[in-house]
Amino acid sequence: RPPKILTFAGSIRTGSYSANLAAVAAKELALLGAEPVLISLQDYPLPIYDADLEAEEGVPQAAEQLRDQLALADGVFIATPEYNASVSPLLKNAIDWASRAKGAPGGGGHDPFKGPVFAIGSTSPGALGGYRAAMMLRQVLALGLSALVLAEQAMVPAAHQAFTDAGDFKDDRQLERLRGTLRTLIDQSALRAGLRA
Ligand code: FNR
Repeated sequence: RPPKILTFAGSIRTGSYSANLAAVAAKELALLGAEPVLISLQDYPLPIYDADLEAEEGVPQAAEQLRDQLALADGVFIATPEYNASVSPLLKNAIDWASRAKGAPGGGGHDPFKGPVFAIGSTSPGALGGYRAAMMLRQVLALGLSALVLAEQAMVPAAHQAFTDAGDFKDDRQLERLRGTLRTLIDQSALRAGLRA
């Protein structure tokens, strides 16, 4: 079977550049032979993490569902926006809650962060393409959650001008760079999941 690659963005803003990157990535993943699962954090509404809330009400259903999506994936592509040189609070909060979730029965056997291979994408209207946010996300995943994160990452500078109205890259070189990251993600996800020798 083709490797299943969960894909999502750290923004739910209408016209979000990072959501646009996630959508392009999902499209390209399919063309490259993987099985993309494109989700929006809009469908996983979560309160800001608070340990009292967790103690009183438990981990929200949305966090369990997000955890299960991660656990069932062979690879994960996350496209983050950059807020004050870091990831969006929406994304960090979703990761924090998912890291607290235990998982529903049948929701995938392994640790949701230690199973799949992760690749990072970032966007920003600036010249660095959200590089600083990408590095912060790398820290959260690799250092905080012991995730395997690819060295390759897909950064999109001048993101407000990068996409056509149809949501495709205007510049073929940007598409090629994204494809490079996605090819490695597919290969490494398949390898780690034992789908290929
Ligand atoms: C920003 N933005 C921003 N951009 C950037 O390149 N570096 C930064 O440090 C910041 N900081 C920042 C902080 C806050 C609080 C906001 C609201 C915005 C601009 C940001 O990149 C822009 O709003 C993007 O459009 C957000 O990503 P999405 O929603 O398009 O994916």
